[in-house]
Amino acid sequence: MRLSEHLVGRAEELDSLELLLARLDEGGSSALELTGEPGIGKTRLLSELAARADARGHTVLSGRATELERDLPFSVFVDALDEYLQALDPRRLAALGEGVRVELATVFPSLETHADRQRVAMQEERYRTYRAVRQLLELLARRQPVVLALDDVHWADPASVELLGALLRRPPSAPVLVVLAVRPRQMDERLSVTVEGREKIDRDTAYVMVANHQSLLDILVFFRLFTHFKWVSKIENFRVPVVGWNMSLNRYIKLRRGDKPSVEEMMAACERTLAGGNSVMMFPEGTRSPDGKLKTFKHGAFTLAKRMGTPLLPIVIDGTAHALPKRGFVLRGTYHIRIRVLDEILPASFAHKSVEELMDEVWRVIAGELPTLAESRAAASFSRGRVGASAL
Ligand SMILES: Nc1ncnc2c1ncn2[C@@H]1O[C@H](COP(=O)(O)OP(=O)(O)O)[C@@H](O)[C@H]1O
Ligand SMILES: [Mg+2]
Repeated sequence: MRLSEHLVGRAEELDSLELLLARLDEGGSSALELTGEPGIGKTRLLSELAARADARGHTVLSGRATELERDLPFSVFVDALDEYLQALDPRRLAALGEGVRVELATVFPSLETHADRQRVAMQEERYRTYRAVRQLLELLARRQPVVLALDDVHWADPASVELLGALLRRPPSAPVLVVLAVRPRQMDERLSVTVEGREKIDRDTAYVMVANHQSLLDILVFFRLFTHFKWVSKIENFRVPVVGWNMSLNRYIKLRRGDKPSVEEMMAACERTLAGGNSVMMFPEGTRSPDGKLKTFKHGAFTLAKRMGTPLLPIVIDGTAHALPKRGFVLRGTYHIRIRVLDEILPASFAHKSVEELMDEVWRVIAGELPTLAESRAAASFSRGRVGASAL
């Protein structure tokens, strides 16, 4: 019995799925997300897709995130791939080269024999892991197209989310279809967010909000805080799973980094937003800071505030840089994130200053607040008595 015989009212969805599978047969990669509330039929559609892909001779790798495994790095990928890798002829993996296999061994238990015990994994090296997984998928897709079907991604551990983001931003150059089923707005349950100074935000004022940027989680966290603002964000962020999808379509202004017309378009869009009485939120560091140290600012936000005579609202965020795990470690508990809204800077106070002066001033203010915020976060987690002996 074919599943589809009992699948009600999904003709359109099935057509799109067939289209994607056909594209795979032509050698292209693509990605698809199924989102919707519980019970809407995401899992069912995923299994229908799996059945159809299977019938076409594609390799179907299915994984599922679970609430219980949210502390295990890469658990969604382990679920989808580990058994398959275990059964794989080792000679096929040999094509990947030793460095890549060592990298993969940090993700997949079945490849443990390739592990290099001397190696200490650093956060910055996650990129190498992403590349290795991309290469692995390319290798697997060399014989026949691969469908990576991941269910319940709203439960995914942060490492899996980052890896997914990397794969979507730079898809494998091979016929790989990534399909994700996700429940909206679920990911942020485990973030414990403390906000100071929320009362400083006047809902009727259009601000240029400027915040430091440590992690993609910032975006998620800020969404829980304020209702009336538009994001300015580099285009890649809108392709990041879970985080990106939470940016509802009318709430952001896209920016293609290093693309001059795009910067001008972005500035014009910001001006329209401000003129319409809405705030904009920018990360003046441009990209996120990997170590949490404040990077130099770009002038866009400050040019905008001066040009429009809009108050600036500096916001400091701390804790999200630590929320993504080092590989191989088991994180537990909730991430403690602190946000502090600082005093607004009125246009009258910077009308006579140059953009550079204003930018430097705001940089110093935010840089000055960051350490105190980090201290209070550390104190807060300590006072919860979470410190204990645990085998890692
Ligand atoms: N199109 C459909 N036709 C008939 N039954 C469906 C359909 N979609 C889902 N179902 C059934 O509804 C229930 C919930 O669907 P499920 O896929 O588990 O939802 P979700 O994964 O979105 O929470 C399941 O029993 C499933 O078999
Ligand atoms: Mg489901």
